[in-house]
Amino acid sequence: MQNFQGKVILITGAAGGIGATTAKLFAERGGKVVLADRDEAGAQRLAHEIGKNALPVAVDVTDAASVEAMVRAAEEEFGGLDVLVNNAGISNPKAKIEETLEANFDRVFDINIKGIYLCTRYAVPALRRRGGGVILNSASVAALVPRKHSAIYAASKGAVVTFTRALSLELAPTIRVNCVCPGTIDTDFMATVFPDGDDLASFRDRLHSSPGHGVPMERLIQTSDVAEAFAFLASDAASSISGIALPIDGARSAGDAS
Ligand SMILES: NC(=O)c1ccc[n+]([C@@H]2O[C@H](COP(=O)([O-])OP(=O)(O)OC[C@H]3O[C@@H](n4cnc5c(N)ncnc54)[C@H](O)[C@@H]3O)[C@@H](O)[C@H]2O)c1
Repeated sequence: MQNFQGKVILITGAAGGIGATTAKLFAERGGKVVLADRDEAGAQRLAHEIGKNALPVAVDVTDAASVEAMVRAAEEEFGGLDVLVNNAGISNPKAKIEETLEANFDRVFDINIKGIYLCTRYAVPALRRRGGGVILNSASVAALVPRKHSAIYAASKGAVVTFTRALSLELAPTIRVNCVCPGTIDTDFMATVFPDGDDLASFRDRLHSSPGHGVPMERLIQTSDVAEAFAFLASDAASSISGIALPIDGARSAGDAS
């Protein structure tokens, strides 16, 4: 079992879904967690649940000044930063490319890749002040095996994979950089894929009644599967692992199972 005693872990998008599960897991294993989210009330609720080892911080990852203040808060309150989990992300509504709005393209790329660039840019000096650390990014199985009608989201996550690999070279040997590629998980995120409530409800029905659909392991991926992968990649057990994109998708990206 990992022990994160004495470590400070900053998680963006910590108020919901994968981020909240990840924050709780790092805190249970002894870490101090910075819960950074644009949903300030959600981050505060989770901090209350976790207790004194959690610090809620309001941030918009697309805004440089807000990101800089987030990293400063981690250093001022908890004395430094050891792990950055770039988890905040959104999808674009499923749509044909001719019907995909430019505003949606900008928003998805702003949050999913510019946000990771900004958080990394301001966190790296803080990680260096501790003598090194770990950066973990949320990509997606969509970066490896995209589905139709979500090219913008898939491309943004492809950029996350390449950003991860390039940075692992630049920041070695003191900072490790990895990303995860989760398959479909039932979180609030799905509302950004299916903004129309009816489509969302029928998608959720299909997902839960037939989790094996397209997933050879025949199971629905859980937020805890991703949190456990983040914890492993942040731990000393992964000291030789940098520059990878780890699928957490029940073998969906392994090949064609039909
Ligand atoms: N759920 C899935 O099926 C799935 C699959 C693959 C990858 N992912 C990725 O995992 C990550 C987390 O997804 P989730 O399912 O937990 O989503 P979620 O919607 O449940 O949570 C995302 C969190 O990010 C926050 N956020 C969004 N924009 C922000 C911004 N500009 N600044 C700060 N915070 C912001 C939201 O407030 C929310 O709390 C995302 O990067 C997503 O692309 C999710």
